[in-house]
Amino acid sequence: CGIVGYVGSRPALGIVLEGLRRLEYRGYDSAGVAVISNGSVRMEKRAGKLANLEKALADRGPDGIAAGSTGIGHTRWATHGGPTDRNAHPHLSADGRVAVIHNGIIENFTRLRAELQATGVEFASDTDTECAAHLLAAEMRELRAAGAEGPQALAEGMRRVCRRLEGAFTLLAVDVAVPDAVVGARRNSPLVVGRGEGENYLASDVSAFIEHTREAVELGQDQVVLITPAGIEITDFAGQPSAGKDFHIDWDASAAEKGGYEYFMLKEIAEQPQAIHDTLLGRLSERGEIILDEVRLTDQDLRDVDKVFIVACGTAYHSGLVAKYAIEHWTRIPCEVELASEFRYRDPVLDRSTLVVAISQSGETMDTLMALRHAKEQKARVLAICNTNGSTIPRESDAVLYTHGGPEIAVASTKAFLTQLVACYLIGLHLAQVRGVMYADEVAAVVSRLMETPDHLRQLLDTMEDVRQLARDLKTASTVLFIGRHVGYPVALEGALKLKELAYMHAEGFAAGELKHGPIALIDEGTPVVCVVPSPAGRGVLRDKVVSNIQEVRARGARTIVIAEEGDEAVRPFADHLIEVPRTPTLLAPLMTTVPLQILACEIAAARGHDVDQPRNLAKSVTVE
Ligand code: G6P
Repeated sequence: CGIVGYVGSRPALGIVLEGLRRLEYRGYDSAGVAVISNGSVRMEKRAGKLANLEKALADRGPDGIAAGSTGIGHTRWATHGGPTDRNAHPHLSADGRVAVIHNGIIENFTRLRAELQATGVEFASDTDTECAAHLLAAEMRELRAAGAEGPQALAEGMRRVCRRLEGAFTLLAVDVAVPDAVVGARRNSPLVVGRGEGENYLASDVSAFIEHTREAVELGQDQVVLITPAGIEITDFAGQPSAGKDFHIDWDASAAEKGGYEYFMLKEIAEQPQAIHDTLLGRLSERGEIILDEVRLTDQDLRDVDKVFIVACGTAYHSGLVAKYAIEHWTRIPCEVELASEFRYRDPVLDRSTLVVAISQSGETMDTLMALRHAKEQKARVLAICNTNGSTIPRESDAVLYTHGGPEIAVASTKAFLTQLVACYLIGLHLAQVRGVMYADEVAAVVSRLMETPDHLRQLLDTMEDVRQLARDLKTASTVLFIGRHVGYPVALEGALKLKELAYMHAEGFAAGELKHGPIALIDEGTPVVCVVPSPAGRGVLRDKVVSNIQEVRARGARTIVIAEEGDEAVRPFADHLIEVPRTPTLLAPLMTTVPLQILACEIAAARGHDVDQPRNLAKSVTVE
């Protein structure tokens, strides 16, 4: 979910709505706002996208909601309670004095709810959040009775509530009795403060207020923050003064705009050459060593590593699957890749000599964060690959390599994926070098091939018109299969995931060799099968095996869409549709072969009339388990 808060002298509503628009990628199944105006909480909330909320606001008579200068807003990705109007945030206390918004899951809410119901409170929604509103209202009543009032009382009320909650939560709240303040609390889910002049902001991430201020404060775990027009006060849950981490936002707000493309996704696909270039920039020291961004480990720690685990979710997991091939090949250390959501529950064997690599674009994915924490508890070393500076995953890791992909807005990951691949290659090279398995000149040779990829990718992107045409032909297919071997296998999985996410079509990726052991039964007359063919130069045998697999599916009626290296004439006779990519060393090939599949999925989705940037049921950053 995305949350925004504002306090100052300008009307809060417009500022909060604009912030929500920029945070919509975090979830968009419902949205709502609450503004304090003329001694009451004015609230509007709606299921569906932000546009529904805006329409409801436009239909509303003038009642002061547009005038109040203290407000909070929420854009939701449902966890407890379906995406309906009544489950949308904010949630009001029964006395209507307190409004609360929340990102996360309050795990002890069933108990709290029963407790509140026993005292006569009636619930108006099915959410876990609503109990926080009732609890806060009760604390505020008690504080008022004891003579406490003003912003400090609101902060104290919030601290008392936080001490009773279990789970993950970022909460923002307002109270009619304290018209010039918004209080926030953070445990696990992200929250940053924007520092203005005579006004202050709170949000899930800085994009919500970047138009107004570039000075921000990142909150730590278990902190309560009070913002008023005059200032920002941070304490821990016990009330002890505490501090956040000040930082200056240096990325450009226009980077988050579409820049002439029809969809953010197309813009981000086009930005991939630059993103790879930026991620590689300055990575080789004068001595020819790979430079990470933050390293709180010694070289000896890395030499002691005897096993690597990669944990990640979604597209990031696919980058991990590619990384396994590179890391094992270069370092000769066994490497396993695991879905973060499965990792800790299976009790993996970890110790001080295990290196866990956590890959996450957002740095906030709860499944990945929990896997990381489990690894740390077992004394493993943790290295993060992340695109978001200062987010939770890199903060809790022993070493970090940032991908410099810039903000990724489209929910389906594209440039983040390619930069994650680059980061994985760099980490593989770094480990190989530190351990003495690769010499500086060997590392430099791979890096120089990596440096060529942005140019090759630009050439490839210029030849995608055919793929667009193909997308229009495929838009009515009922199933699309993807096959590949070696690093082409994760590419096939990623191609299928993109098509599922965006086009809502049945798509599956398979290891090409596995097809004959079952999935080949799916193939019918005309079934499209996308085949990722390895380079004939690097691993000829592998290429030949894939070509045989293409013949097998073709013999059963498949329509073959073949992605192969330029000049690989041998595949031509078996391709109903051939997509050529520039020559690239085998291990690095996913940097090329993935891209036509991104465009294919994007164009099929658009041809089917779907919202490419915000597919149904998904969120960019999933901060619940
Ligand atoms: C969500 C997104 C995916 C993304 C995954 C991991 O499910 O919809 O596109 O790959 O999270 O996100 P992360 O930020 O950890 O890379």
